[in-house]
Amino acid sequence: MKPMTTTANKSQRPPAEVLHADELAALARSDRDPRPPGWRLSMKAVRRFVVGDHDIKTKIVCPPSLIERAMVTLASNRALLLVGEPGTAKSLLSELLAAAISGTSTLTIQGSAATTEDQIKYGWNYALLLNEGPSPRALVTSPLYRALQEGRIVRFEEITRCPAEVQDGLLSILSERLLMVPELPGDNAVFAAPGFNLIATANTRDRGVNEMSAALKRRFAFETVFPIASYDEELALVQREVARMLAHDGVATRPASEVLEVLVTTFRELRQGVDQEGGAIERLSTVVSTAEAVSVAYGVALRGHYLRGDSGQPGDIVEALAGAAAKDNPDDLKKIRRYIEHKAGKRKGEHWQQFHAARHLLPQ
Ligand SMILES: Nc1ncnc2c1ncn2[C@@H]1O[C@H](COP(=O)(O)OP(=O)(O)OP(=O)(O)O)[C@@H](O)[C@H]1O
Ligand SMILES: [Mg+2]
Repeated sequence: MKPMTTTANKSQRPPAEVLHADELAALARSDRDPRPPGWRLSMKAVRRFVVGDHDIKTKIVCPPSLIERAMVTLASNRALLLVGEPGTAKSLLSELLAAAISGTSTLTIQGSAATTEDQIKYGWNYALLLNEGPSPRALVTSPLYRALQEGRIVRFEEITRCPAEVQDGLLSILSERLLMVPELPGDNAVFAAPGFNLIATANTRDRGVNEMSAALKRRFAFETVFPIASYDEELALVQREVARMLAHDGVATRPASEVLEVLVTTFRELRQGVDQEGGAIERLSTVVSTAEAVSVAYGVALRGHYLRGDSGQPGDIVEALAGAAAKDNPDDLKKIRRYIEHKAGKRKGEHWQQFHAARHLLPQ
């Protein structure tokens, strides 16, 4: 039997440059504006790609000024740090910027407590190292190394989850714009090609950005990414994203807009601690982000489609809420129960009533 392989565009989640290849090609064809050195597109075209217009899909809902500041930083000699609550599209924004600016978003380092300096700079193929000593062939380059060499954007996800001494490995690369490989004889400096820069993301909930050294902070421009302010924009985004994911799966049904309205309203009220009428709501300790709303809406549609042959019901939201929003905090579950009991029950409309009627589906 032939081994199965999956191409990027058929994969569960194609990278932005594959998913939006047509738009990127069209933008490049019509782009007459000045491009910063090493960039594939002009700043104006990158902005259009991210925020969208009549011909280009909106990919990030945010003030265009955020994208402008981010691009100016990336064209300068400072790196960019996107900070914010979980699920506010920091990773997505860094992916889109990298795809539009340098044609690839896959030069990525995933930060974690186990990240080592090798993963940031370079390592060795030990078989070759033993055989022929330190040579360019034996070198195993990191995404950062390749970005530097090829003049591209490298992404560093969750940078503040890395040990501070590993983070500090970036200091000289970001200020000198070169990477030394002292083990190699002779020519052992890799100089940054035009277009190289770094986008890091950091989550304010995980461990905060506090542990980044002051020296490293100075090499970054910080941009805070906020949750979507407008209800209408958040609802439209959830609708769009779910439709896109279902289309990718070949599922033809779409959740009813009333179901998504219940979902988005519930998420926003539990997030903001205030309801549409201005009344107080107990906020959850877990973040109920737009990203979570999208994945709950997707789950609702899948449940309806595969288990019953419909497009998803308000009761499915209740089923998904406990797993998505309460996580490991039993108090959150109580807050959700009180919300459905006291708020949803008073709302007019069949869908709110069905949502209220399904409250027994929450785990006890
Ligand atoms: N402002 C927004 N614009 C577009 N999509 C958004 C926005 N906010 C949330 N999303 C949704 O969230 C998903 C992306 O979340 P992403 O993983 O990028 O968030 P994050 O901020 O990196 O979260 P984390 O801190 O948990 O890593 C998107 O695919 C989209 O469905
Ligand atoms: Mg992220």
